[in-house]
Amino acid sequence: MLKDLFPKFSLCLSPMDDITTDEYRYICKKFGADVLFTEFVSSDALIRDVEKSYAKISFSSYQRPIGIQIFGSTEQSLVQAAQRVERLNPDFIDINWGCPMKKIAGKGAGSGILADIPKMIALTRAVVNAVKLPVSVKTRIAYDEHSTPVTDFCEALQDTGIQLLSIHGRTKQQMYRGDADWDLIGRVKNNPRMQIPVFGNGDITSAQKAMEYKNRYGVDGILIGRAAVGRPYIFAQCKQLLSGSEVTEPTLSQKADICIEHLTLMTQNQGERRALIIMKKFYSKYFSAVDNFKSYKMRLMEADSTPQAVDILQQIKHL
Ligand SMILES: Cc1cc2nc3c(=O)[nH]c(=O)nc-3n(C[C@H](O)[C@H](O)[C@H](O)COP(=O)(O)O)c2cc1C
Repeated sequence: MLKDLFPKFSLCLSPMDDITTDEYRYICKKFGADVLFTEFVSSDALIRDVEKSYAKISFSSYQRPIGIQIFGSTEQSLVQAAQRVERLNPDFIDINWGCPMKKIAGKGAGSGILADIPKMIALTRAVVNAVKLPVSVKTRIAYDEHSTPVTDFCEALQDTGIQLLSIHGRTKQQMYRGDADWDLIGRVKNNPRMQIPVFGNGDITSAQKAMEYKNRYGVDGILIGRAAVGRPYIFAQCKQLLSGSEVTEPTLSQKADICIEHLTLMTQNQGERRALIIMKKFYSKYFSAVDNFKSYKMRLMEADSTPQAVDILQQIKHL
């Protein structure tokens, strides 16, 4: 059973496109993330053998337990992609029924499926039946405020045979606006018929909030997304609270070292050009609390080699 691979309460790095790369997952794992997900990949792209998509879902065994996340909108595509993913032997296959982006949801994949719950159930069941690996689902609370909420279809999802349900507490229509509705997540978790682990997601901004929501809603795990970008140590901080210790914040010098390690790994694995592009999403996050970071940020954004960026990061240590 998938839940046997997880701790009793799991802290997870939420999947994020172009963020939760192999290298960043490794760093978050080092800081104590219990469960990892790859970035999502298109089922159609996997079937077409698109190399870039396979690169996004490669992982090392250090990252286990890990789920490879796929999205798609037809049974044929999802089933065939899941069977290909199965050969890569992750611990589980996660179906993305949560992405609200027009180019995905507009085609009936991601959270677009929430407009047609019977189809969501049928496609999920088809994937579960097509592979031996455990299958999980990550979804949102509903299509919009007027449509069927997850409290009404979570049992049907469980009955497909999935072994984990992760819920982002927003509707598709909300995109990232408003607040995540954790009451609904809590109601799914506290439905006595729900036997599979239920993980909550949305707006966890600190280790303290993660622990508060764990206790208030009783979820089996929490996925941390945006708050883990540039703060991989948030997982260590959650663990400090779980074990009754004080939360410690890394020093500026330590943060710079983590960022340097991240950049170095990215450069080694993905090449300097792509590393420098991806790292632009991270610099402000790594150094959000630093007062006079702005001029360094400009220089980092303009750096055209890894040694140059590393040199700037070394200087930040002395701010
Ligand atoms: C840049 C970005 C990329 C994302 N990519 C994915 C993805 O590939 N798969 C997925 O299930 N969710 C994706 N998400 C959604 C997050 O996993 C998460 O559900 C959402 O950000 C809410 O959690 P948070 O408030 O902790 O960030 C993405 C979010 C962001 C901001």
